[in-house]
Amino acid sequence: MTRIGWYGLGSMGLAMASNLQKHLVSKKALNMVYSNRTMARGNPLQAMGAVPEMNFEKLVGQCGIIFTMVSNDAVLQSLISSALGSGQSLRDKIFVDCSTVHPQTVGLTVAKLKEKEASFLSAPVFGGNPIAVDGKLVFAIGGPRKAAEVVKPLIQDVMGRRVIDCGEDATKSSMLKIAGNIVTVNMMEAVGEAQVFAERTGLGTGPMEELIGEAFGPVAGGYSKRLTTGAYAPPLDSRPGFGVSLAIKDAKHASTIAKEHSVELPGLQVAQENMEAAREYGGECLDSSSMYGILRQKAGMEFWNEKSRKGGS
Ligand SMILES: NC(=O)c1ccc[n+]([C@@H]2O[C@H](COP(=O)([O-])OP(=O)(O)OC[C@H]3O[C@@H](n4cnc5c(N)ncnc54)[C@H](OP(=O)(O)O)[C@@H]3O)[C@@H](O)[C@H]2O)c1
Repeated sequence: MTRIGWYGLGSMGLAMASNLQKHLVSKKALNMVYSNRTMARGNPLQAMGAVPEMNFEKLVGQCGIIFTMVSNDAVLQSLISSALGSGQSLRDKIFVDCSTVHPQTVGLTVAKLKEKEASFLSAPVFGGNPIAVDGKLVFAIGGPRKAAEVVKPLIQDVMGRRVIDCGEDATKSSMLKIAGNIVTVNMMEAVGEAQVFAERTGLGTGPMEELIGEAFGPVAGGYSKRLTTGAYAPPLDSRPGFGVSLAIKDAKHASTIAKEHSVELPGLQVAQENMEAAREYGGECLDSSSMYGILRQKAGMEFWNEKSRKGGS
């Protein structure tokens, strides 16, 4: 039996790993081995039978399939470097990264692991924390077919409702994720603009939210709720649903790739500038939808609304 490893227990990773561990228990398979920079985040997983391992290299040594779900390219690269530098055999191991990273990072990682006869699958996800909790994420998967077939049953109806197969080139799924986030970030900006408009004109955010949910679907409705519930600026001791810096990273990846292909993304540019301004004003503990705070300020209102926290940093 292959043991499964998991590194990264943030807003998304903990929910995803919990669903996977639940599945492993139901199949009477070996318990997952998990690791995270902040090990205490894994306590709920440990309570479900998963095994903590502080050292990523040791985790890799014990597991045949290793999932990673981390903030950005640099964290993924440092994990892969530590696995490569550990001197242990990586032969036939399958690394599955679910983070949002640049296709170039994926390409480099594929090449490095191939030298060690290991496979790399890029399996980024669409959907936020509540969807991850429900096991209903949409995955894109790219990489060697044989490895993808081994991993798909750990995803479909376990962590995700749908797996979009992007073929053997792992950079393709990463590119799809970046492209998808052009829509995500623009939609958050559009919902924020509409809600500021509704508030300032006296129309009211309630009817606006009802319309957004009904006419534009649950994803747009969910973005509206992040504003009206104040989740765009959560309490300083909490973790935002989709941190503003993560969305800025995604927008930058999209802009860089767009520039290389002479594609203009003016909507994304506006949203990115507003997210950067929000982070400058309110600090790191903001959701990606916090461009809303800047839109509020531009309309002569406070950055914070009645449900959000009330101060920066
Ligand atoms: N949130 C969403 O709605 C969403 C949706 C789709 C895709 N994504 C993508 O999924 C990935 C994870 O997102 P998330 O929202 O779960 O992020 P998150 O809550 O910020 O968690 C990030 C994870 O990376 C770890 N990490 C950060 N810096 C590290 C470092 N220097 N060394 C080692 N570990 C480090 C964190 O460890 P600690 O726990 O110790 O901080 C945590 O496990 C990102 O690439 C994001 O863009 C997010």
